[in-house]
Amino acid sequence: MSPPLLSVADLTKAYGGAVALDGVSIEVGAGEFFALLGPSGCGKTTLMRCIAGFETPDGGKLTLKGEDLAGVPPHRRPVNMMFQSYALFPHLNVFENVAFGLRRKGEKEDAIRARVSELLEMTQLAPLGARRINELSGGQRQRVALARALAPRPSLLLLDEPLGALDRKLREETQFQLKEIQRETRTSFIIVTHDQDEALALADRIAVMRAGRVEQIASPIDIYERPATRFVAGFVGETNFIDGVIARDGGAALATSFGRLPRAECALPEGARATLSVRPERIDISRQGEGIAGRVEDFVFRGEYTLLRVRVAPDVVLRVGAYDGRFTIGDAVKLTIAPDAGVLFAGEA
Ligand SMILES: Nc1ncnc2c1ncn2[C@@H]1O[C@H](COP(=O)(O)OP(=O)(O)OP(=O)(O)O)[C@@H](O)[C@H]1O
Ligand SMILES: [Mg+2]
Repeated sequence: MSPPLLSVADLTKAYGGAVALDGVSIEVGAGEFFALLGPSGCGKTTLMRCIAGFETPDGGKLTLKGEDLAGVPPHRRPVNMMFQSYALFPHLNVFENVAFGLRRKGEKEDAIRARVSELLEMTQLAPLGARRINELSGGQRQRVALARALAPRPSLLLLDEPLGALDRKLREETQFQLKEIQRETRTSFIIVTHDQDEALALADRIAVMRAGRVEQIASPIDIYERPATRFVAGFVGETNFIDGVIARDGGAALATSFGRLPRAECALPEGARATLSVRPERIDISRQGEGIAGRVEDFVFRGEYTLLRVRVAPDVVLRVGAYDGRFTIGDAVKLTIAPDAGVLFAGEA
């Protein structure tokens, strides 16, 4: 395997007494689209600032293309960072904003013109080169910021909430463009986002962070379907947490207050407390037949499916995705959870 482009090893950083990074290790490959996901304050921006060189870590090691970054100033790192506020220059036009980094590097005028034109083309800004920043829409400004960040050909681009200021429709369109541009330029991207769907849609791999630590690094599918911890299961996507006790007579099962849920695989011993995390769409629902008896209490129409709240015990309500069949409040239903659906965690929440 070729060595990673970026290696972050056991990075720590505290502000006063507050720990922002508590031993973070990640590796990002050349050309990889990597996403950082986690609740507010978990250390995402701090990690990016350490990688870019705007912040000095207290401990750990950063290596980029095999070079130790300790002591290397930001402008000498083949890294660029795009801030959420974009930080564009209002007194310069679009062309000059994109050219900024190249001029600072002292590149020749011809080379600058060629590179800027190429980027304006790529970001669909070509007709707007002479415009001033305050004459642009939010989405256009976002693209100028992206073009400017890519202009000096960084090996690694850090994007902190790059689409945060855009409305939902524009955000979705821009996600595709971002992915396309990343592929075209073969630049490694590390993107920070609050939006899980965005991380799932864009990233080759996702790191889920919590309180200065990485809980899991995996592909979007694995993060969603095989969360390593209860926190990851709860943070990414919707899920049900079902508490119970392991029973091993006649095959492994989770014994719950509303019946036995057979499990295909279970490493936990008889009598152990456990929690099953199962996504709403992995619970099958029908009007009759075998299964867990429940009653529909509430539903939300979500377009391609309906999210139902189904009471299965006095103290347990499950969220169930119904893709067909019209269910309404008060309907008696039967639920089944396949023995291989969801993930079992030891202990209770
Ligand atoms: N310059 C600073 N001085 C003191 N504390 C800081 C500083 N920068 C960040 N912190 C603290 O470090 C922790 C991590 O902050 P960071 O900005 O990295 O979080 P984040 O994951 O980017 O959050 P958000 O999603 O809200 O942007 C927080 O508790 C924050 O208050
Ligand atoms: Mg942040």
